[in-house]
Amino acid sequence: VIRLLAPSTRSDLPGVRLDGTRCYIRPPRPSDWRAWVDLRARSRAFLEPWEPLWPTDATTRQAFMRRYRNQLDDWQAGRGYAFLLWRQADDTLLGGVSLSHVRFGVSCSASLGYWMGEQYAGHGYMAEGVRRVLDFAFDHAGLHRVEAAFIPENDRSRRLLEKVGFTVEGYARKYLRINGRWQDHVLTAILAEDPRSDG
Ligand SMILES: CC(C)(COP(=O)(O)OP(=O)(O)OC[C@H]1O[C@@H](n2cnc3c(N)ncnc32)[C@H](O)[C@@H]1OP(=O)(O)O)[C@@H](O)C(=O)NCCC(=O)NCCS
Repeated sequence: VIRLLAPSTRSDLPGVRLDGTRCYIRPPRPSDWRAWVDLRARSRAFLEPWEPLWPTDATTRQAFMRRYRNQLDDWQAGRGYAFLLWRQADDTLLGGVSLSHVRFGVSCSASLGYWMGEQYAGHGYMAEGVRRVLDFAFDHAGLHRVEAAFIPENDRSRRLLEKVGFTVEGYARKYLRINGRWQDHVLTAILAEDPRSDG
């Protein structure tokens, strides 16, 4: 069930909230900057090997707002749908999950990205987050295919995608520049009609 909340200001992202059993996803808000900066700063060593090079101001309000404004533009243009992942029990920020490079027309596909705060990883929260984002992609945004790629050594990412129901489709050499280096990636995807685990 996709719940629609009233946006608090006219420049806010849409008031969408999708609930799992222990956590939920919703688009970011400007007031999330402190929780985001704090969690990313604490998780820096855990995240950096798997992400694009962090800018010098990566753990500042300015970096959050730059990202937020891009995400707002993307939502409005239908180019991307960014969400943050929160624990239901106490509204603690756990991580982020997003759809980017949304292509309609003959493709109707998007790329999935995600990250977790180090202290919350490995508890199955991101599997719930990815399942909810797929509900959004297939039931709300009208997409047909969601793609995700990971570096072959990223066992957590491989396992996450496998358990949610993604299929490995290929291997792309030097696919993305991660942590300052062009790195090979395993390519996976899930289609709207594919079975999805809901454990
Ligand atoms: C990838 C990431 C988002 C997954 O989030 P998560 O909260 O760990 O995801 P989940 O707990 O839902 O699932 C992870 C699975 O990997 C397993 N896992 C955890 N550590 C592992 C390891 N070192 N090797 C293999 N599997 C591992 C978990 O046991 C779990 O599988 P299970 O449910 O069968 O037990 C998170 O680990 C992360 O942010 N990693 C660092 C950054 C990153 O890799 N980003 C993605 C780039 S593609």
